[in-house]
Amino acid sequence: MPDALDRLRSAVRDVSEAARTDNDKARDLWRSYVLGAWTSDVGELSASLTQAQAALSGLGMAGQAGDGWSTRAKEHAAMLKQAAKDARGLRLVDADEGEPATGHDVLTALRCPDAPCPYRIPDGYQLSRRGVVVVGETDTVVCRAPIVITGSGEDAESGRRYLRLAWMLPGGGWVVRTVERDRAMQARTIVELSADGAPVTSVNASAVVLWLDALEADNAATMDPVRVVRRSGWVDGTTYMLGEEAIGPDPDRYTLEPASDGERQWYREIQRGGTWAGWLEGWEYAKRHPKAAIAVYASVAPALRGVVPAMPGACIEWSGITSGGKSVSMDLAASVWGTVDLVRRWDTTGVGAEVGAAAAYHLPLMLDDTKALLSGGNQRRKDSGASTITATIYLATGSKGRLRGSPTGLREQREVSTWLLSTSETPSVDLASDVGIRPRTLTMIGRPLGDDAATGELAATMIGASVREHFGHLGMRVVAWLAMDGNAAQARAWYRTHLEAASHGSAVQRRLSQLIAAIATSVDVCEAVGLPRCDGVMNEAVDAARYSVRSADTHAAALMALWGLAQAQGRVCDGTTERTPPGGWIAEETTSGARLVAATVHEELKRLGHDPSETVDRWRAAGWLDLTKSGNARSSITVARARGVSGYRLNAAGMSVAKGEK
Ligand SMILES: Nc1ncnc2c1ncn2[C@@H]1O[C@H](COP(=O)(O)OP(=O)(O)OP(=O)(O)O)[C@@H](O)[C@H]1O
Ligand SMILES: [Mg+2]
Repeated sequence: MPDALDRLRSAVRDVSEAARTDNDKARDLWRSYVLGAWTSDVGELSASLTQAQAALSGLGMAGQAGDGWSTRAKEHAAMLKQAAKDARGLRLVDADEGEPATGHDVLTALRCPDAPCPYRIPDGYQLSRRGVVVVGETDTVVCRAPIVITGSGEDAESGRRYLRLAWMLPGGGWVVRTVERDRAMQARTIVELSADGAPVTSVNASAVVLWLDALEADNAATMDPVRVVRRSGWVDGTTYMLGEEAIGPDPDRYTLEPASDGERQWYREIQRGGTWAGWLEGWEYAKRHPKAAIAVYASVAPALRGVVPAMPGACIEWSGITSGGKSVSMDLAASVWGTVDLVRRWDTTGVGAEVGAAAAYHLPLMLDDTKALLSGGNQRRKDSGASTITATIYLATGSKGRLRGSPTGLREQREVSTWLLSTSETPSVDLASDVGIRPRTLTMIGRPLGDDAATGELAATMIGASVREHFGHLGMRVVAWLAMDGNAAQARAWYRTHLEAASHGSAVQRRLSQLIAAIATSVDVCEAVGLPRCDGVMNEAVDAARYSVRSADTHAAALMALWGLAQAQGRVCDGTTERTPPGGWIAEETTSGARLVAATVHEELKRLGHDPSETVDRWRAAGWLDLTKSGNARSSITVARARGVSGYRLNAAGMSVAKGEK
């Protein structure tokens, strides 16, 4: 570790030296350091050096902005020195070793180099490794381990006040938590922190609250400002929350406080492991299979959405028979950001929905295997599975859709900015007839790792092994690169160029050009951070787009599905049956066609995932419905001898579509 630290230090020295004379040279030099091989060393260092790394990134930004290189360099060198000191681990003074610690020592030990100095310990109190004591004729112990406030601030979204608390564990390590102020300042609720090792019990809780209150009162003005962020992704336009780690010019200010335990757990999987070089070895295998490799670019894409606002939401789905490498492709996508546990199964609706589209902010939402929701069980279960899937696609792609009534609790009010990555046996896009999601969906058909069993097997093994050991590097590189001044603008320019190049063809193709341009931009950005380009990816993207275009004719599919369902459930009246079936009649067959009951037809279309009025409009436009004299599709019909029912008249042409004859 000291070795890498030394190299880091000399990197800063070199860059600031160069900056004295030549900004461009300094920038190039810095880039070569950040993108060069040694970042992987830094990545492997302990968390204390993340800060130093961020300092370097801040240095790069200062340089590009052209403002005082050497001043910034000096500042960052100081931070770096501090980080180095912290890495060695400052300790609290033991009571019998001499003086009790000052607040500033505590903060320094906590690696808060920007801590206010002096940090006042309130009169009458003493803080040491042994805890907090009220001094007097006889000392009264408040708690048996140090607990302090290291920062305060508010959540930009809700305005709630937060305190950042830190306490020492019996073993010597520190726990830092940002908690709602009202939780920290009540005896009843602060006790809950004891679950995380805080030195609070039901007996001393009130005394601890008094101590924290005094500490806050004495230090409020100089306290670290804390910016509480509820989720991953870009914040303030400059900083990316990579799980709990902030990447940007002022990383210490930001702290992640997920909205739920499910989200916290998911964000914890965003981490780095192994090395960049190790991950690239796996990539060498993936690169030969563009249909799998595209997973990497699709995984990066949502992070670009924060800096290229024109980029739309998307659903990328791998669809095909079993053992083709679909799940391997998902693992590969996950390894861009962290562990393979970032991939969830479609049937874990609880977590899936909660972590859902809103939490995967500027990150991919990866859900494996729709089969889990669609197979087994009864028809009702399948129906609800299908509507969960389409609802999720609507939400993730930002398509205007019918989300209300989603069974999964996906009715989040939070802004959604993600890409949905999914695998299935049959394409999910066919579950929904609404053409709205087609321009946002790429469907990869077939085996991602190819039809040759031997190479497919080998690739699956190599990629699978690689991503379990080496992960999180590409994502880190991409956001660090984007956080540098000028690069976001570069990404926007790339996107515009690709969009222009892709904007030919039919209306649907034109709209799909946004996705094609998005993937092309992702390929460019990845290359800029050192990922060898996979050449076949763009062809795959265009092929996948064609699938959406080809299967856009779903109003026919809707009619077929409706008719099939009506027959299967015995809800087509043949004119003789008297008893109304459960759910009511859907149709009555006539010699040349059928009379359709509007109410049940709409209801079933909706259940099948179609927009009823849009679908009927299309049937009408296709000439499948007989119209009234005044040109209405809807008229009064007779079904099972009941007159005056509102419905439609399906003609012979429509009937042959319904029966799949056309
Ligand atoms: N293209 C391929 N050719 C041959 N074998 C393959 C191929 N792809 C994957 N495999 C083998 O199948 C195993 C399972 O791969 P994976 O889990 O990715 O399949 P899948 O497509 O997700 O299948 P399922 O539909 O069952 O989930 C791999 O470990 C590998 O041994
Ligand atoms: Mg699978």
